[in-house]
Amino acid sequence: MPLSSRHLLGLHGVPREDIQLILDTATTFREVLERPIKKVPTLQGKTIVNLFYESSTRTRISFELAQKRLSADAINFSKSGSSTSKGETFKDTVKNIEAMKVDMIIVRHESAGVPQFLTRISNANIINAGDGRHEHPTQALLDMYSIKERLGKIEGLKVCIVGDIAHSRVALSNIHGLKSMGAEVSLCGPKTMIPKGIESLGVKVTHNINEAIANNDVLNVLRIQLERKAGSTIPSLREYHNYFGITAERLEKFNKDIVILHPGPINRGVEISSEVADGPYQIILDQVTNGVAVRMAVLYLLGTKN
Ligand code: CP
Repeated sequence: MPLSSRHLLGLHGVPREDIQLILDTATTFREVLERPIKKVPTLQGKTIVNLFYESSTRTRISFELAQKRLSADAINFSKSGSSTSKGETFKDTVKNIEAMKVDMIIVRHESAGVPQFLTRISNANIINAGDGRHEHPTQALLDMYSIKERLGKIEGLKVCIVGDIAHSRVALSNIHGLKSMGAEVSLCGPKTMIPKGIESLGVKVTHNINEAIANNDVLNVLRIQLERKAGSTIPSLREYHNYFGITAERLEKFNKDIVILHPGPINRGVEISSEVADGPYQIILDQVTNGVAVRMAVLYLLGTKN
């Protein structure tokens, strides 16, 4: 069965079957990444532009590598150094890039809704690589893939997303995706970092990190988004670490096999201690490796859809 949409704008409303198909397809590509020659001809002749208006390390390199592994032609656009500084509008930039016969656009932008807008002005397949505080669907897909790889399932697991939920696009995509796949999702963080009424998405909320550790199989630990002025919602980073930081001391008190995820970039000593970020509970670099396979799956499924 093909995917139900020709774009990936978010995980809100994406059928469980689509998510399952992406995760199953990623398993095939994960195997390709272990081969001596990590390349298949699947998207030969396709041209994909990575349109990044906001900083990125993992997502950008992961998409570019996924495109190269699938033999597509990858073009990279950064806001800095582009004609945006000369006053060219976003729409004109996209129209000009598309005139060069581009098949797919991967977009990261500081404004929520930009990927949706692109579907109206472009005929290319659009993939959201993170839009403002809205969604980051491939991050949630790679998070789910990594959870399943470590624990063998997603359905029935208890997953808590910890930290700066209010400024996070990873949180929303994880909530939609994990719930769709049958996980029980909760949130933990200071009141000022949890949007009012978020329980309407079917998640529980706690403000007690010990309760979150005690009651969950997985913690997905989020960074405080200082670039989105999140620092003004807490008294200090040190106080945040004292109340909500994931430390070895906290985890060891519960003597359980909890799995720690973090989408990166990490602020060591704030939301997570270095001991945990490099320790036995975390699967942070597995997430990064799996991200390439998951993005290969998304590109393949959208790029070969009629
Ligand atoms: N997880 C993530 O989106 O990281 P980057 O901002 O480095 O792409």
